[in-house]
Amino acid sequence: MDTYVLKDILKEYNLKKQRADDQCKKNKKEIFLKIPEVASLQDELATISIKSLKNNMIQDQISREIGTQNLELKINEINNKIVKSLKRNGYDLEMFNPKYECEMCKDTGYLNDKQCSCLKQKIINIAYKQSNVLRLEDENFETFDTCYYSSKSDEKYGSTKSPLENIEDIRKISLNFCKNISNKNQKNLLFIGGTGIGKTFLSNCIASEVIKNGYTAIYQTAPILMDTVIQYKLSYGKNNDNKQKYNQIFDADLLIIDDLGTETMNNIKFTELFNIINTRLLNNKKMIISTNLTIKKLYDTYDERVVSRLIGNFMICKFIGDDIRLKKKKIN
Ligand SMILES: Nc1ncnc2c1ncn2[C@@H]1O[C@H](COP(=O)(O)OP(=O)(O)OP(=O)(O)O)[C@@H](O)[C@H]1O
Ligand SMILES: [Mg+2]
Ligand SMILES: [Zn+2]
Repeated sequence: MDTYVLKDILKEYNLKKQRADDQCKKNKKEIFLKIPEVASLQDELATISIKSLKNNMIQDQISREIGTQNLELKINEINNKIVKSLKRNGYDLEMFNPKYECEMCKDTGYLNDKQCSCLKQKIINIAYKQSNVLRLEDENFETFDTCYYSSKSDEKYGSTKSPLENIEDIRKISLNFCKNISNKNQKNLLFIGGTGIGKTFLSNCIASEVIKNGYTAIYQTAPILMDTVIQYKLSYGKNNDNKQKYNQIFDADLLIIDDLGTETMNNIKFTELFNIINTRLLNNKKMIISTNLTIKKLYDTYDERVVSRLIGNFMICKFIGDDIRLKKKKIN
């Protein structure tokens, strides 16, 4: 990535952190004015942190450790008193701590010297222009609605289950998938089914959940993904932006390939698709692949080596029901 872009992102992080810290300082000021007891307890904490610095300089290890233990006990005791006093006075404890967007890196973007997943995700979003396709605010498990799925089973769906029972099952499988994203035994997901039955929506719900839990996710349709890969290969690694996008395909914790089967295929693309799926499987990196094609059609379209991996390492979720796009249109 352009170092300027990274600089801009980090500037944004700095501002975010500053804002959270400033707000917290403001809250504390207000609390200290209203509850003098908390103010003097806070003073005691400040004195202890000076004592703690002095204690760290004690040469004798045993004396130093005893000192540390005593100081920690004292800090705990004072913190408990602060918590009780805040509660007694009707204050929310949240006000006493800075409210960072990312609790892991405290909006610094880094954990030790490594990029935090929130920063990695931000870089992916920019490289893949993801913010407009991954509508995380609108499409997540909270907005996931089962009202569009009929509770009546029908022969036309080709299943004994009703679309509602079916989507409830797939939803459970998906939530489990999110929980076990880094588990070696968790299978990947293959979403199969007709148009407008919610494959993309559910993929986005999963991406949203996974990102919320501190992992990184790339969403891309098969045609654009394959074009990205081919562009990189054709540039022989010379273009840095392409290189970064290419590497992210393998690095991201979750790769969602949507609309498999809509791309125009050729031999190089087959090879590259195989390489992506195979490498990610070997590295235990999860994938979700969606397609309108039937299993039979998959076999007709793709190399046996690709399809056998899709069948063997993916849990097949067959979406059934009526086109939600049409249903929504009728309602409006
Ligand atoms: N569970 C849901 N709750 C609310 N809206 C949904 C849900 N599932 C799908 N939708 C909406 O229904 C429409 C179609 O869903 P989606 O795009 O996910 O279908 P799809 O199976 O990916 O279709 P295609 O195969 O054509 O890509 C979208 O507008 C989406 O927002
Ligand atoms: Mg779709
Ligand atoms: Zn972070």
